[in-house]
Amino acid sequence: MRTLHFFKQAFLVVFIVGFTHFSFAQGKDLPNVVILATGGTIAGTAEGADQAGYTAGQLGVTTMIESVPGIQELANLKGEQISNVGSQDMSIDIWLTLADRINTLLASNEVDGIVITHGTDTQEETAYFLNLVVKSDKPVVTTGAMRPATAISAEGPLNLYNAVAVAASPKSIGKGVMVVMNDQIHSAHDATKISTTAVQSFMSPVEGQIGGVIYGNIEYYRSPYSIHTTKSEFSVEGVMELPRVDIMYAYADMPADFIAYSIKAGAKGIVIAGVGNGNMNAATLEAVKKATGQGIVVVRSTRLPSGDVLRNAEVNDDEYGTVVSDELNPAKARVLLMLTLLKERNIEEIQEIFFNY
Ligand code: SIN
Repeated sequence: MRTLHFFKQAFLVVFIVGFTHFSFAQGKDLPNVVILATGGTIAGTAEGADQAGYTAGQLGVTTMIESVPGIQELANLKGEQISNVGSQDMSIDIWLTLADRINTLLASNEVDGIVITHGTDTQEETAYFLNLVVKSDKPVVTTGAMRPATAISAEGPLNLYNAVAVAASPKSIGKGVMVVMNDQIHSAHDATKISTTAVQSFMSPVEGQIGGVIYGNIEYYRSPYSIHTTKSEFSVEGVMELPRVDIMYAYADMPADFIAYSIKAGAKGIVIAGVGNGNMNAATLEAVKKATGQGIVVVRSTRLPSGDVLRNAEVNDDEYGTVVSDELNPAKARVLLMLTLLKERNIEEIQEIFFNY
């Protein structure tokens, strides 16, 4: 696994170096922004303009940039193709490559901001991962689209335009990683996808969006509340893989044996997408207690779209040895737990991390 990751990283680095030989497009007195393309519907195409079916991750980064009128007036742009996948195929390998590339680019005086084009399905996970491991105050923005590039009223070009405007703006410094979709600016900590097909596909259900961007005009309402980027204690420098953390979706009459299976398969942590306030049935709670007794870290999150999971309220976390996710949904709780488990820590420390990040 490690060796495979090393070769994949080496391949991607060689691939990327090929793109770093050309300099920023126009060299005007504008901020320099690098667009890292990973695929998704924003780069997707269909046979016709009126079809629901399409293939994600078809267009290259240069074609995407060229399709946006006026974008060259916002920033000097450079594009790099990191991957070209539907984001259901986003992987930890690609995350580690992205983090490494972003940290290298932002350490250079030549780069003022980064935009990542991404499928919307797992965009929130990538954005949150980067929010924890990017070591710079410079703006990092993810964006995508719900309609493929060939569709009637494709919204990708305007999303990319707005994302570049946000990444190029000094107002965005220190805001952590942001998700820019449909004229809204969300903190990576808060954003979540809420619709399978609608253009209004992202929201920040607990804390609300942090700003808006209309044809490149930006207004921030607030700064993110949780710890991110330069203040984050997490780093993936030299990291080749992350510990396995599984997510279990709770429901009526859920069987408890998934927990034992997951541990046998190598999980070091488990996130329960609990019912209500992070709840699960009695049989699953007993299996969880056994798991935490064996040193597996179990985080209680919720399958609901909004609200905090409260510690020692409906479930006695002290007794079961569990951690609550606070505001994080299951997918983001998994990201945080994987990074947390890179180092040995006790349950109290892990709980503090979930309250602060
Ligand atoms: C994907 O996540 O790659 C497909 C869906 C989308 O980008 O909207």
